Amino acid sequence: MDKFVIHGGKPLSGTVRISGAKNASLALMPATILAPGTFSLLNTPTLRDITTMARLLESMGVKTSHSNHTMTIDSSRIAHYEAPYEHVKKMRASIYVLGPLLGRYGRAKVSMPGGCAWGPRPVNLHLEGMKKLGAEIDLEGGYIVAKAKKLKGARILFDVSSVGATGNVLMAAVLADGASIIENAAIEPEITALAEFLQSMGAEIHGIGTSKLEIDGVESLHARNATTIPDRIEAGTFLVAGAIAGKKKGNVRLEQCSPDHLAAVIAKLGGAGAKVNSGKDFIEIQPPESINSVDASTAIYPGFPTDMQAQWIALMSLANGTCVVTDTIYHDRFMHVPELNRLGADVTVRDNTATVIGGPRLTGAKVMSTDLRASASLILAGLAAEGTTEVLRVYHLDRGYESIEKKLQLLGADIERVKGEEF
Ligand code: EPZ
Repeated sequence: MDKFVIHGGKPLSGTVRISGAKNASLALMPATILAPGTFSLLNTPTLRDITTMARLLESMGVKTSHSNHTMTIDSSRIAHYEAPYEHVKKMRASIYVLGPLLGRYGRAKVSMPGGCAWGPRPVNLHLEGMKKLGAEIDLEGGYIVAKAKKLKGARILFDVSSVGATGNVLMAAVLADGASIIENAAIEPEITALAEFLQSMGAEIHGIGTSKLEIDGVESLHARNATTIPDRIEAGTFLVAGAIAGKKKGNVRLEQCSPDHLAAVIAKLGGAGAKVNSGKDFIEIQPPESINSVDASTAIYPGFPTDMQAQWIALMSLANGTCVVTDTIYHDRFMHVPELNRLGADVTVRDNTATVIGGPRLTGAKVMSTDLRASASLILAGLAAEGTTEVLRVYHLDRGYESIEKKLQLLGADIERVKGEEF
């Protein structure tokens, strides 16, 4: 397992290009199941999770190839309608094949996703939505076994606004008989991108970008190409890098990103004292003279994303004052806290709220990655810490950040990947 060795305190400045969005690609790829043909998905990032999704699709008979950020998918010869445990255990988003398989083939066998590093992540809304569309759903031997001669349009009102359930049910409803309505649908940019892709394939969807999606089922869909939107969480992570370790009076510039998708994060960084300036597809950040403590409470889009919560706590651990950071989406997503405290942060967690007492410095140490965004916060803290930080088990990072160490080196960070040691 690789680790990162970071010699902190190097002021960051310069330009990086933001990659395509992991969470958009993980929805676009299974959507190709819905129509026979060849698709080119441009700006697809090179990430472990993308490889896992490609392997999963290949196990069904799909052909995939990925080069120069273009994912080419041929879905003409699907012969297996199953997502085996081996794939699903690596990545919960594998459940995204359920809707398209049911919609196109009327059957699917998908391993039930287990919990994740920070706790239970149920899929009841996905299953309830499929049942509303007329699917029979049984749980056998840890598998969701779903069948339906032909799905029928229905009205689905989600108790909780869920990104995954919205995407999955939408992909099932586009080929159903008749009209469907999804209410309290998620409006995250990744869902809007999925809906627009389905529309380009011939789906009839109204209300895209709103929490009420109206779908008129169609007979069939056609293969189309698409370009993946930029990754707003990767961009947010690099903005915090610019705030926590940026060169005074220097700036970190992000290119090929969507500032609109980051309004909540940019507003918080402004509150913390950073100067943020953006254009159509770039953002520049100048670090604060001194970091102000700013509370944060995560929310569904366009609120402050839960996937930026850990990175925010890392920044606030160097602020001049105390703040509280609450996660309303995942109440127990605080695996990064004990590791940040090993670097000298002062964070305490009660229920779904962390109290962060800011301080003048962090000091390098060995820390353990536990999940994707938690490990990003450890890297950010290591960039600002005095001395050497070793971030172990960085395979978590490789799931969702494309060559993060190379991009940080471009900004002047002293970070190195050390290959394959057992920790
Ligand atoms: C997506 O996960 C993202 N993953 C997550 O990013 C992100 O944290 C999350 O949305 C929230 O923004 C992908 O897009 C692949 P949800 P998802 O369904 O779809 C509850 C990252 O770091 N819920 O919107 O699984 C759930 O427990 C990852 O890139 C149910 O109760 O999230 C949570 O509290 C981590 N029942 C809330 O809804 C369900 O059936 C939101 O979850 C489904 C969800």
